[in-house]
Amino acid sequence: VSASTAEMPRKRYPGEAKGFVEEMRFVAMKLHTREQAKEGEKEVKQPEERSVRQWEPTIDGYLKFLVDSRLVYDTLESIVDKATFPIYAEFKNTGLERLENLANDLKWFEEQGYAIPGPSSPGVTYAEYLKEISENDPQAFICHFYNTYFAHSAGGRMIGRKVAEKLLNNKVLEFYKWDGDLSQLLQNVRDKLNKVSEVSSVPLFVSLQNSLVNSRPPDSYLVFQSWTREEKNHCLEETEKSFKHSGDILRLILS
Ligand code: HEM
Repeated sequence: VSASTAEMPRKRYPGEAKGFVEEMRFVAMKLHTREQAKEGEKEVKQPEERSVRQWEPTIDGYLKFLVDSRLVYDTLESIVDKATFPIYAEFKNTGLERLENLANDLKWFEEQGYAIPGPSSPGVTYAEYLKEISENDPQAFICHFYNTYFAHSAGGRMIGRKVAEKLLNNKVLEFYKWDGDLSQLLQNVRDKLNKVSEVSSVPLFVSLQNSLVNSRPPDSYLVFQSWTREEKNHCLEETEKSFKHSGDILRLILS
């Protein structure tokens, strides 16, 4: 007699035992190239996928990158502030916010006599996309939120150092400075991400007949359930789009 599916061990996802952030990290690390990070597996196709050590940044390109980054962080931070889905509210005031710091950096460049360009197409396209998914696809939005803030704390800082060395006499911009201990701020956000992926973004109610329903019948009470495996997979699958959009913006530095 063969074992029934109910008795078969369920498929385990890489990182699952440590929590959902570890799953997101695993997917993200594979989407780096070997030249970007040692856990990377992707083949180099675009200039920004080469080792940062070999980059030849330009100041005009870097300003475009900073302007588009300001637009992206402005968009992410207003979405979180507005909290269309209650889980977004968990990510208010994490200490990772970048909008104000970027705005100060751009002011500094202006004072130095640089002309600040308007946002370009990679930033505008990404901001539009983020607004759209934030309204109807919280799992996808959370994926972009995680990747954007965590990428900046890792590869972003390597890029900041490189550009400072080549173009800014080693001046460290505010974009790369955090109030407080960055690793602690990141850990707090990891804990919150693990928490929200354990509660559903869709409120569910238990009716008097004990069935789960979406709309609120009288005398029901509110319960949440953790993200389903499908919702988690959907979030993980969004990582590729996050790399695509962020890559388009990073490439501006080399233009
Ligand atoms: C982590 C480099 C672009 C998302 C890392 C790490 C490195 C790195 C070295 C490992 C950090 C560690 O474990 O200590 C780079 C470089 C990039 C780049 C050089 C481009 C030039 C991106 C992009 C994304 C991304 C475009 C997604 C939008 C992440 C994430 C982590 C990470 C989510 C995990 C951070 C953590 O666990 O704290 N990156 N990366 N990276 N990167 Fe990138």
